[in-house]
Amino acid sequence: MKKIINELSVFLDGEKGSAPILFVHGFPYDHQMWKPQIDEFSKHYYCVSYDIRGLGSSPAGEGQFTMELFVDDLEKTIDELELDKPILCGLSMGGYISLRAMERMPDKFSGLILCDTKSEADDNEGKLKRAEAIKQINSGKFDELIETFVRNCFGDKFVEEDNSNYNEVVERSKKNDPVGVKGCLLAMAGRTDTTESLSKIKLPTLVICGSEDKLSPPKVMKPMAEKIAGSKFILIEDAGHMTPIENPKEFNRAIKEFLFENKF
Ligand code: MLT
Repeated sequence: MKKIINELSVFLDGEKGSAPILFVHGFPYDHQMWKPQIDEFSKHYYCVSYDIRGLGSSPAGEGQFTMELFVDDLEKTIDELELDKPILCGLSMGGYISLRAMERMPDKFSGLILCDTKSEADDNEGKLKRAEAIKQINSGKFDELIETFVRNCFGDKFVEEDNSNYNEVVERSKKNDPVGVKGCLLAMAGRTDTTESLSKIKLPTLVICGSEDKLSPPKVMKPMAEKIAGSKFILIEDAGHMTPIENPKEFNRAIKEFLFENKF
């Protein structure tokens, strides 16, 4: 079922009375990246996913986005749906949103799943890359930017072996509103560093990383997991940055075990 909340497209799957899992996608994707997870987990959980402002079918408006606005959107979604302490699952940009949400409103959640993400803010090189991407979009090279960015997100194995699925993701990403994409780039460039707060996370936490992830590699994600007391770190072999799409079997297995171990 689809619902509009605070202008955003929100998707509800599973029984409303079941334990809720809230999925927050990465950039420049939309809620559809979670299809293999929603198909699986909606059998026993109330799965809520949404298109982040400016991406998928959520409107870009003027594209003046901040990470704070994205967290406001997340909060309004939880409140409007009256979700009782959902498990929060965020990938990459969705992880940045999740980590900031943990600082702002930790009591709203019962568990945390961080996928292919990091707590550090953009360094100077990262900020300059965002500026370059915006310049590329402004010079009419939106499709080229998407092609390069998305290719960098996926591991070689998946692109070579599951080319039609990969091409579908690229084509869908090109349908995003360039204004929304620029807004997300600005929000990511301006986000705060959440590293100091990792030790304050008291929720059961699962950290998942693709062994070939170039954007948030194991050497960044493992130390992040170590700063969250009691967290579990799972490495998915031969996968890049998009573990839920690249290896849904192993990814779902990791989540299933985490849910079981923590009696969710
Ligand atoms: C994402 O997958 O959300 C992005 O790669 C995050 C980023 O560019 O920092």
